[in-house]
Amino acid sequence: MKNKTILITGGAGFIGSHVVRLFVTKYPNYHIVNLDKLTYAGNLANLKDIENQPNYEFVKADIVDSEAMFQLFEEKQFDAVIHLAAESHVDRSITNPTEFVFTNVIGTVNLLNAAKNSWKDKLEDKLFYHISTDEVYGSLGEEGIFTENTKYDPHSPYSASKASSDHFVRAYYDTFGVPSLISNCSNNYGSFQFPEKLIPLFINNIKNNKLLPVYGKGENIRDWLWVEDHARAIDVIFHQGKVGETYNIGGHNEWKNIDLIKIMCAIMDRKLGRDLGTSEKLITYVKDRAGHDLRYAIDSTKLQKELNWIPSLQFEEGIEKTIDWYLENETWMQNVTSGDYQKYYENQYQKR
Ligand code: NAD
Ligand code: DAU
Repeated sequence: MKNKTILITGGAGFIGSHVVRLFVTKYPNYHIVNLDKLTYAGNLANLKDIENQPNYEFVKADIVDSEAMFQLFEEKQFDAVIHLAAESHVDRSITNPTEFVFTNVIGTVNLLNAAKNSWKDKLEDKLFYHISTDEVYGSLGEEGIFTENTKYDPHSPYSASKASSDHFVRAYYDTFGVPSLISNCSNNYGSFQFPEKLIPLFINNIKNNKLLPVYGKGENIRDWLWVEDHARAIDVIFHQGKVGETYNIGGHNEWKNIDLIKIMCAIMDRKLGRDLGTSEKLITYVKDRAGHDLRYAIDSTKLQKELNWIPSLQFEEGIEKTIDWYLENETWMQNVTSGDYQKYYENQYQKR
């Protein structure tokens, strides 16, 4: 593997930390620069185990700061970018859409400009790899599946901002030749996910005997993929993906929210030594999320056939591992839920 200097943005977040860990440990001859603003969702404790590796460097910066991005690209002479930094929570995008435009749209354009400026006419062997979501495709009914050719139809300010950033990445490839790749992944679960998202939030609430706020009737469907399998897919696409292409990533693992929640309750009852059925009593149906997409399901046949990637873990094993991780990492959970988290929680759930 050739030496490379790679910028990974958002590396202190949930998925980013898994990608940084994988690249730092698997590719000692790559120099990995993790750029992160350390918002509420970014946490350097997610990378404690690799922070002293000689091929790892952390830079605290905001991708909305275009000048800082230009300077960083000039200074580091990156060969490639894996762009994960984003505002990522749908509920927050309903409360504060503008923040999502700044980070997800303007931040992405700033990185594209900095890459274009730094790479100029030396574009061969360079790569801007943009990490996107299946939510750009909109919502499915009971039938159907998202392919790479599904028309974009975002509904939330979050997915609209991600769709916009995808369009800019493609526009910079078509107009300026900035070599790019995009992957659109389904819902991730696993260690280090901020407990505003369904799975870690509910694990934490069950453990603390707090109510489980199920939006609407709990009938929405999500397609869950273990985060380390997403990181493996990013590795494969980064190294073998065809420039200009899009790859869907998913595990063919659809769950109705309420069924997933009941499974989590039963596993937690067993692990916490509670009578079966105890945690289920915490389920409370609350006001639905505005514009709540009914169903996501992703077709990752292209990735499986062309690049030979398949998920390594079945959901039953993945969810057990995930619950164990949160139960064993109580200090991590306490640290991320101290401070502003309490305020967020009250605002988000008291009104429902
Ligand atoms: P996350 O919220 O856990 O992490 C986002 C990271 O970006 C944080 O470390 C945060 O500090 C950083 N960040 C935010 N604004 C920034 C800014 N202006 N400048 C620099 N850094 C900034 O998100 P995640 O769940 O790990 O998602 C990572 C990426 O993957 C996102 O682009 C998201 O859209 C995409 N994605 C997520 C999922 C999922 O299920 N979580 C699924 C598909 C795609
Ligand atoms: O599909 C990929 C997307 O998955 C990513 O692009 C996003 O960054 C990520 O946040 C995730 O979006 P969702 O909105 O699907 O994830 P979330 O964990 O917020 O919600 C999952 C489902 O659970 C959704 O139908 C809403 C529901 N839910 C969520 C919360 C937080 C509840 O019923 N109650 C809750 O308190």
